[in-house]
Amino acid sequence: MNVASNGLRIPDGFLWGASTAAHQIEGNNLNSDWWQMEHSDGPIAEPSGDAADSYHRWREDMDLLAGLGFTDYRFSIEWARIEPAPGAFSRAEIAHYRRMVEGAVERGLRPMITLHHFTVPRWFAERGGWTVDGAVDLFERYVRATAPIIGTDVRHVCTLNEPNMVAVAGAVRELGAEAPPTAGLPLPDKATTDALIEAHRRARAAVRTISADIQVGWSVANQVYQALPGAEAMAAAYRWPREDVFLEAARDDDWIGVQSYTRTRIAPDGPLPPPDDAERTLTGWEYYPQALGHALRHTAQVVGDVPLIVTENGIATDDDSRRIDYTTGALQQLAAAIEDGLDVRGYLHWSALDNYEWGSYRPTFGLISVVPDTFERIPKPSAVWLGGLSRSRMLPRASS
Ligand code: BGC
Repeated sequence: MNVASNGLRIPDGFLWGASTAAHQIEGNNLNSDWWQMEHSDGPIAEPSGDAADSYHRWREDMDLLAGLGFTDYRFSIEWARIEPAPGAFSRAEIAHYRRMVEGAVERGLRPMITLHHFTVPRWFAERGGWTVDGAVDLFERYVRATAPIIGTDVRHVCTLNEPNMVAVAGAVRELGAEAPPTAGLPLPDKATTDALIEAHRRARAAVRTISADIQVGWSVANQVYQALPGAEAMAAAYRWPREDVFLEAARDDDWIGVQSYTRTRIAPDGPLPPPDDAERTLTGWEYYPQALGHALRHTAQVVGDVPLIVTENGIATDDDSRRIDYTTGALQQLAAAIEDGLDVRGYLHWSALDNYEWGSYRPTFGLISVVPDTFERIPKPSAVWLGGLSRSRMLPRASS
């Protein structure tokens, strides 16, 4: 891919780094619903086990990220550890995550904290999850208990990661064993959608009382629904419950997280699989770096003047040169969006480390690989390249 030498200067204060999620890297998240699903007779092929052992090795992870040149690190804190039984908050786990916040700041990494990244405590799932009475109150109580972790030095808090995918998972559970569609996503569960939007509103209010400077938002999975000729109405109707309702709920937020990997084309009778000749990544998704530009522009259209932060973007591949190509393409889209006047405030790559991809270790999204037996971390060339862009403060621009 051609990159013009005159890149676009990264705006001052721009967040530049990588993202992770607790369950995917910490290991032994024993008290979570996911751990339980991994060890039941369900469809999950591979359990998370020790993951990358980041629960113990977070200092090493942060040393690497800071050393590579990144200035920001998005990680999640684990509700199942902080509140292992209803109302029983662990001071030791709160202190653990507080040490992580302080450790990030000491290394020059600004922490972005995600309060909920897919997993919930096992007891919360057993009492019925998001849609039963009192669920949102329980989430709000947990959020209030995280105040000592957030303190006055965390600037960005993400309440819930990809609520639209959580609502889709709720629908899949309702449908039972029914096979998911070959293209597109099932219709999100309406009751889960409503509960998550309310959970977000309550969490936002709770977090804003912790510190006056705090910026709260949530991150939405953007599928870049592209209408084929004649399918505009179908695409709009398809997109609304799967994406736009969650974007609209961010209109009073301080920022909105944009998470983009690929696209979904919509024909007049519904979603299509990737074109036959498309390159596919290790998740089976179409290689389509242009997705980020579409996701940013669509999000801006729906949320109005709420600032945008790319909270996830990346590719599952064994070929690290393809990761650099993909990310170059995505960053060119980001640069073009900024030049067109979109208020984009950050880019956080998914993911810092190769990690547990919700049922399998096979799709490797990391800038840094992890040796399974020893947990040794080995930065890939893409990590050095992306950290270098941060140091040079330049975004690649597409050559005209
Ligand atoms: C999630 C991550 C996941 C990534 C790649 C996002 O949906 O937030 O947890 O690993 O995409 O599938």
